[in-house]
Amino acid sequence: MDRRDVLKLAQRASVGALCAAPLGLLAGCSSVRYVAYRQEGERLVVNRATVGMAPYVLLRHPRDGEPPIYLHRREDGSFAAVLLRCTHRGCQVNPAGVRLACPCHGSEFTATGEVLEGPAERPLQSFDVTTDADHITLHLV
Ligand code: FES
Repeated sequence: MDRRDVLKLAQRASVGALCAAPLGLLAGCSSVRYVAYRQEGERLVVNRATVGMAPYVLLRHPRDGEPPIYLHRREDGSFAAVLLRCTHRGCQVNPAGVRLACPCHGSEFTATGEVLEGPAERPLQSFDVTTDADHITLHLV
């Protein structure tokens, strides 16, 4: 096991410890925050004020059994949204700093869902995002 492997394990362990906690304990996990939204058909409408300046937030998927949606603020202020389901074998991917990491077999993705490291070969499912002065809207289809 080289230094890189040790760092990856430590990163995964800390994310798991912080972010696998029951929701009530997540208030202390400053990097993980779920936000509310209004559903309009296949659109999820988030008030910008609930996101604030957070680099990312999570949305509970409106369909039962689906993993959360990761809403990421790019450096230019625009937003990207991806489903936190690994494209390798379907495990839930977790935010890990500026990356998204799969705890099952080690795949890693960028915050916009591109594959950084396999075994996954395809990017995470992404959603179109539009914005106006007060809202961020995710389009599920
Ligand atoms: S399910 Fe994610 S790496 Fe295998």
